[in-house]
Amino acid sequence: MPGFVLLFAGEAELNYGEKGMKQRKLQRGVAIVGAGMSKFGSFPGLSSRDLFVEAFQEMSASVDKGFDPRDIEALFIGNYSSDLFEGQGHTAPIMTDWVGLTPRPATRLEDACASGAAALRQGMLAVASGLYDMVLVGGIEKMTDLPIERVTDTLATAADMTYEIPAGFTFPGMYAAMATAYMHKYGATTDTFLRVGYKNHEHGSLNPKAQFGQRIVDIMEARKASAVKKGLPVPQWADEYEFLRDNRANPQIAWPMRLYDCSPVSDGAAAVLLVSEDLARNFTDAPLHIIGSGQASAPALHSRDTLTAIPSAREAARQAYEMAGVTPADINVVEVHDCFTIAEIIASEDLGFFAPGEGWKAAEDGVTMRGGARPINTSGGLKSKGHPVGASGVGQVIEVWKQLRGQADKRQLAGSPALGMTHNVGGTGQTCVVTIYERR
Ligand code: COA
Repeated sequence: MPGFVLLFAGEAELNYGEKGMKQRKLQRGVAIVGAGMSKFGSFPGLSSRDLFVEAFQEMSASVDKGFDPRDIEALFIGNYSSDLFEGQGHTAPIMTDWVGLTPRPATRLEDACASGAAALRQGMLAVASGLYDMVLVGGIEKMTDLPIERVTDTLATAADMTYEIPAGFTFPGMYAAMATAYMHKYGATTDTFLRVGYKNHEHGSLNPKAQFGQRIVDIMEARKASAVKKGLPVPQWADEYEFLRDNRANPQIAWPMRLYDCSPVSDGAAAVLLVSEDLARNFTDAPLHIIGSGQASAPALHSRDTLTAIPSAREAARQAYEMAGVTPADINVVEVHDCFTIAEIIASEDLGFFAPGEGWKAAEDGVTMRGGARPINTSGGLKSKGHPVGASGVGQVIEVWKQLRGQADKRQLAGSPALGMTHNVGGTGQTCVVTIYERR
């Protein structure tokens, strides 16, 4: 992968010994044979267990040749903080009970917003080790029961409570710091970010599971219609970008991140069924093989060398590409962790799709739109689809599953895509998990 290696050349943060740099391979192959998710959104009266049952049922229905749930040998559930969001800890056995699978071993994985992908990776390792032939991986979060101040405080516990939070940072604030550093270094403007949000709403409008599944133009027209109905002065926005630049329509959350730069507060769940590769065709003729997986950690934002890249994402991507033996150019479908619009731009560079400092230009030029040369987040991303934090990493897999199997309906990418990738970030990148999938 000469081009790819060049992009990362000279970076000092990857400090492995020689032994740590060996090429990693799974002991046996692992495939996904079923995938499903609940709708993402705000669902008063539903708990994470209700949403998980919904996801489990959709996953079960997606297994083309059927399966016996009693063959599931273990469950791995990604969840960030049911303790603080719902007052309920120890959620993995509860989910297991609600889908009728006790006494199977059930483990909860917590890596902030990367909890879902961390669970996927542990499920994958459990099958690859030979211990289990079939495992269920889930992701859950129910965030909307709390008022926004307590949601913000709960999310903040994923940051560094010694250094970052006492300095006055919230998550929008930390990503805003990354955004201003990026603008300063590379010349992006506040309009650049609006384009990412605009795109993800366009994509999300084609996804019936999306929380904010409206195009910006539709939101804008609805606002005008509402003003007419209430007898108020009707705002005269010339187009979507004028709407997005309007501080009343799109208020600043933490400059330069506005409302439409932020992923929402969401409820949701997702589930995928993993089996050993040799069994996959018993369940479907179109399994997705997990061919690459990488996970890495990074220090908190305040002690990093750079604010314009996420070192754990670069390292997780390196591992995943190396295991899969593919390059960024080979990837057809990619879901990245756009918790804020700046995060998508940085991800597009960390994953090697664009050189450092070039991702914002690609976003501005429409390259990352569905019809562009490098479509990103065809699901609508976390911005439009929603971000129930512990579920998001598994939710990303659902889009890749649909796109690679030609089941993404109106948002289906042309050209029969065969290779997909997910990129799931915890916090401001203290954790990142990157996974590569192949339809064979
Ligand atoms: N994008 C677009 N519209 C949004 C939105 C979002 N992210 N969040 C809320 N809205 C809309 C609501 O639908 C509502 O519209 P309406 O007035 O037409 O009904 C309006 O904005 C106000 O909604 P409300 O729920 O009161 O917003 P809020 O102020 O409580 O929350 C944020 C807005 C941006 C603060 C919140 O979504 C947030 O904190 N997001 C970031 C979450 C996060 O940090 N996740 C972890 C990432 S690492």
